[in-house]
Amino acid sequence: MDRRRLGRTSIDVPAIGMGTWRTFDTDEDRRPLVELAVESGIDLFDSSPMYGRAERTLARALEGIRERVLVATKIWTAGAEEGQEQADHTLRLFGHVDVYQVHNLLNVPAQLALLERLKSEGRVRAVGATHYQESAFADMATLMRSKRLDMVQIPYNPLRRTAERELLPLAESMGLGVLVMSPLQQGILDRRPSTGQLEELGVSTWAQAVLKWVASDPRVSTVLTATQQAGHVRENALAGDPPFFSPDQRALVVRIAERG
Ligand SMILES: NC(=O)c1ccc[n+]([C@@H]2O[C@H](COP(=O)([O-])OP(=O)(O)OC[C@H]3O[C@@H](n4cnc5c(N)ncnc54)[C@H](OP(=O)(O)O)[C@@H]3O)[C@@H](O)[C@H]2O)c1
Repeated sequence: MDRRRLGRTSIDVPAIGMGTWRTFDTDEDRRPLVELAVESGIDLFDSSPMYGRAERTLARALEGIRERVLVATKIWTAGAEEGQEQADHTLRLFGHVDVYQVHNLLNVPAQLALLERLKSEGRVRAVGATHYQESAFADMATLMRSKRLDMVQIPYNPLRRTAERELLPLAESMGLGVLVMSPLQQGILDRRPSTGQLEELGVSTWAQAVLKWVASDPRVSTVLTATQQAGHVRENALAGDPPFFSPDQRALVVRIAERG
């Protein structure tokens, strides 16, 4: 698994990380999935209080191995007091948070100040912000220019490329880390490349091609993908191995994706 520096922080992150939206909102034991992910090199986990039981389920699955992995999570509330309560709860679960983000830019003044304070106290290593909608990219860009963020989390895949124009150049010039959310959404998994095309890309599945396409953008730190299936964990981890795609290979992935 390729590792990259998260922007200008001292945090080395894997090219592929694991999201917990939907997949960890359960009382089931996710330990086997987490162990397999870590063994495969996927040792960054992204969560949020928005994802129901996900933070708690992740914390349980990490008992005894918390210090071997990176935890990214979020504050998700417009309320200042509730933000503090979420942070208290999350820090009890994980001890510290490696990457703490303002979820969907909710009450940035209060929540970013909270995260900055926790960072100054050594309980958080990097602070950032997320949004899932292109309509919020202008606000995200303004915040990125404020120099208060270490990283951002944004959507990006071969069918969803607004970030390529509107945010990634800015992330690069500001030295910000970039986590990518939802790389396999937008119906992209419906595409059917030929065996020859997969061979040309040096991958064995289309999901791998999509993940590798995102990870091949040098401005991307980690591609977050979510699954409950052991086979998909192994498959997705391989997308984080070099060699990454050349410009021609990236163009081929876009052609396959756009053909519909
Ligand atoms: N606003 C925000 O901050 C925000 C918004 C959205 C997401 N996120 C974060 O980003 C993470 C990733 O986004 P996402 O949850 O949308 O993940 P995703 O990886 O884009 O999509 C997950 C879906 O892809 C399937 N899948 C995964 N690997 C596959 C493979 N190799 N082959 C075929 N299907 C595969 C999964 O099904 P199976 O279980 O069957 O594999 C699942 O249905 C989230 O979990 C969350 O942590 C943040």
